[in-house]
Amino acid sequence: MSDLQAPSSLEEEHRELFRELVELESEGGETGKAVKELLAVLEPHFEKEESVVMPLLGALRPLSDGKPIRNPSEAMSLYKRLSSDYPKMLKEHAQVKKLIESVRMAAAKVEKGRALTVMDGLEHHAKVEEEVLYPAAMLVGAFAKGKAKAKVR
Ligand SMILES: [Fe+2]
Ligand SMILES: [Fe+2]
Repeated sequence: MSDLQAPSSLEEEHRELFRELVELESEGGETGKAVKELLAVLEPHFEKEESVVMPLLGALRPLSDGKPIRNPSEAMSLYKRLSSDYPKMLKEHAQVKKLIESVRMAAAKVEKGRALTVMDGLEHHAKVEEEVLYPAAMLVGAFAKGKAKAKVR
């Protein structure tokens, strides 16, 4: 089995956020409309994270146990993709933050407390990614690349 499997805890977090957002969207009104716009950016963004960032993070545990990465070439191609997508992904976060503000404004008018809580959760999610998960995924990729280079020598 590949080491490069998304950690289930992270997949679950995405699924839960997505479920809550779809629910808010389905309630309609101004808040639902704002959530729909947010989802249009967030859905492809989540997909990219699940196919590029999360698989690299799956290798954190075996690596921290001192085990070598079982599929370094796959890790390196993910690393290459993440390196080139990184600026775009941060831009998407900036876009998401703006859209979160629109949802908050719409929700505040109708006292939608739950929408505000979901927005707090989503904002925190993006912050954890920027501060911890994206850099950790980059480290895994850089480590795999270093190992592969060492092997060639
Ligand atoms: Fe995410
Ligand atoms: Fe994200």
